[in-house]
Amino acid sequence: MELKQIFENNRDWIQEKLKLDKDYFMNLAKGQNPDILYIGCSDSRVTAEDLMGIQPGEAFVHRNIANMVPNTDLNVMSVINYAVVHLQVGHIVVCGHYGCGGVKAAMQSADLGLLNPWLRNIRDVYRIHREELQGMEVEGEKYKRLVELNVQEQCINVIKTADVQKAYNSRGIQVHGWVFDLQTGELIDLKIDFEKILQGIMELYRLS
Ligand code: CO
Repeated sequence: MELKQIFENNRDWIQEKLKLDKDYFMNLAKGQNPDILYIGCSDSRVTAEDLMGIQPGEAFVHRNIANMVPNTDLNVMSVINYAVVHLQVGHIVVCGHYGCGGVKAAMQSADLGLLNPWLRNIRDVYRIHREELQGMEVEGEKYKRLVELNVQEQCINVIKTADVQKAYNSRGIQVHGWVFDLQTGELIDLKIDFEKILQGIMELYRLS
């Protein structure tokens, strides 16, 4: 790809926006008030705004390999804190995708160097749900299911944070688990039961 092209694209994009609204950038610069925090995969094919059909300013976005929410990761934890406490988002979405390279790598027993500690979090998800996954004979089905279970576990990690529990008690913030299907373009709601999960983990994880 010619990087020169990117700057040409940028100029075209500016013109497109201004054609529709001459104050577009002036208004954009005033500040942000997104209602959604989107936590997704860094995969180049899973672009948050495009797949949700939303515009700049509508979602606060965090992306990393395999849409993880490890509780010792200062990056994702800071994003959650800022979005929940300061931006006061009403929804947090963890969005995984079928065909995720991070999840695939975690399913293989191999030393992947620097990626080991990151992928370990996914291997832990596999271990937690081992019984269900080992019962699946078709490898492709197992892979898809691990993608879904990983989203579910990362939603639980979001719910474990004090900021989210406080925001739930005070203003009913919602947590959602979604999966993007690369082969069809469809966005699937896993219908994570926030209330049930919260009740289920309360004994150990209640922070608020
Ligand atoms: Co991925």
